[in-house]
Amino acid sequence: MSETAIVLGVGAEKGLGATLCRRFAKSGHHVVIGGRTPEKIERVADGIRGLGGAATAFQTDATSESAVIELFQKAEAIGPVDLAIYNAGNNMPGDLLTMEAEFFELCWRIACFGGFLFGREAARVMKPRGKGTLLFTGASASLRGKPFFSAFTAAKGGLRNFAQSMAREFGPQGIHVGHVIVDGGIAGDRIEKGRPEFAEARGSDGLVDLEGIADIYDLLYHQPRAAWSHEIDVRTHKEAF
Ligand SMILES: NC(=O)c1ccc[n+]([C@@H]2O[C@H](COP(=O)([O-])OP(=O)(O)OC[C@H]3O[C@@H](n4cnc5c(N)ncnc54)[C@H](OP(=O)(O)O)[C@@H]3O)[C@@H](O)[C@H]2O)c1
Repeated sequence: MSETAIVLGVGAEKGLGATLCRRFAKSGHHVVIGGRTPEKIERVADGIRGLGGAATAFQTDATSESAVIELFQKAEAIGPVDLAIYNAGNNMPGDLLTMEAEFFELCWRIACFGGFLFGREAARVMKPRGKGTLLFTGASASLRGKPFFSAFTAAKGGLRNFAQSMAREFGPQGIHVGHVIVDGGIAGDRIEKGRPEFAEARGSDGLVDLEGIADIYDLLYHQPRAAWSHEIDVRTHKEAF
């Protein structure tokens, strides 16, 4: 029975979630792919199987407690969950004066509350085994507020503090909890297709490289127990910070 890696928050084939799925399938995991759009996650799973890897997609709303519990149950039935990555988190800018309460709450549900549901289930299955790696995807918004990003920064900041608390609570019990701050736009479909003018204005090396980000998750996953990092940031050489 091979070990499983769950990635929740997978969409476009050229996106961080899909890149992480391919990366950990390549290194021998059976990858359990969670996302809200069935066609997208099936396409990512098909791509991995086409390359000889093992992958199973399960439609999962990251904000639903029962769905996240079920995702872990299905993954454990395939093999023990050894790596869990929470990647969901759509950037949602909004003007504060006209912002609906539901908008703020939805943003928090995806980028923060879903991380709690996911982290709790990961800890529940990993703690009895005394091992496992749990990684969260952060953004520039994890570190600082910006105009028009009040909801997103509140959610990502909350996720970051949640990850820190988990690291301190579960590290001594053998669970490695990490948080990766992607400081800048990613060179994936979300920006290249969704905001081509922005991608073009950034020029070459203007967006963060997907495989370069995946290298960080790989590094965190492979760190020996006596040399763990909790948080690593990544940006292009062009990014001011
Ligand atoms: N893109 C960037 O420039 C950028 C920059 C910095 C940090 N980040 C962070 O990187 C992570 C990945 O972003 P990405 O843009 O590259 O996207 P991605 O990895 O391609 O996919 C993330 C996916 O999360 C999914 N998702 C959203 N709400 C969900 C929910 N309630 N339940 C399950 N899945 C849900 C979306 O699904 P659908 O496709 O079905 O909508 C989206 O495709 C996010 O945490 C984001 O905050 C992104």
